[in-house]
Amino acid sequence: MKKIIITVDGPAASGKGKISKYISRKWNYKHLDSGILYRNLAYIFLQNGINLNSTKEIKKIINKKNTISYRKSKKLRTEKISKIASKIAVHQFVRNFINKFQRKFIKSNLKNRHFVIDGRDIGSVVFKNANLKLYIDVSEKNRAKRRYKQLIDNGEKSIYPQILKDIKLRDKKDKARKNSPLVIPKGAFIIDNNSSFRNTSLQINKLIKKI
Ligand code: C5P
Repeated sequence: MKKIIITVDGPAASGKGKISKYISRKWNYKHLDSGILYRNLAYIFLQNGINLNSTKEIKKIINKKNTISYRKSKKLRTEKISKIASKIAVHQFVRNFINKFQRKFIKSNLKNRHFVIDGRDIGSVVFKNANLKLYIDVSEKNRAKRRYKQLIDNGEKSIYPQILKDIKLRDKKDKARKNSPLVIPKGAFIIDNNSSFRNTSLQINKLIKKI
């Protein structure tokens, strides 16, 4: 049985995580959330008081590391960590480090497993030859509403207009950066995730059945 890779890209709070988890459970794919890798790095920088404006300091930490955790945790989901992750993600050496980990992860994981990986550049850069590429499309307002609810549910203080502003800013950063900007990958199917999840899952299952 050959390995199958599905990539799920899209902007902040577009529901990539929920969609990938759904695919993982329904179709028995192993899920890797690449955003968590950036968030775990961001957490390390925060804990070590690294000056994020100093490329030299960031490089020093990266050069010392040979792996990164892909474990999820609530502490990685804060707005502070989101901002730091987005800031460090502009550096190509940071991206190289994370991309190397992702490729190794797929190679070394159980031979016959299939993978669903979500992020910003998965279909466009990291796994260009994936079997199925999805790009998740949701309006800014819907994303901000969902993100606001998520933060409140996590017990974080949150103000909707601020969340909308932060989402717009993060989109701008992710789309405008020189290295691996967020784009619709070549050959990707655009999934409309504005309405019900049932509608989203119907669009996706139809495509997976055709792999
Ligand atoms: O997807 P998530 O919101 O967890 O990602 C956090 C940040 O990490 C993003 O805003 C983006 O700047 C960066 N990221 C990236 N490439 C990926 C995944 C995440 O640049 N493949």
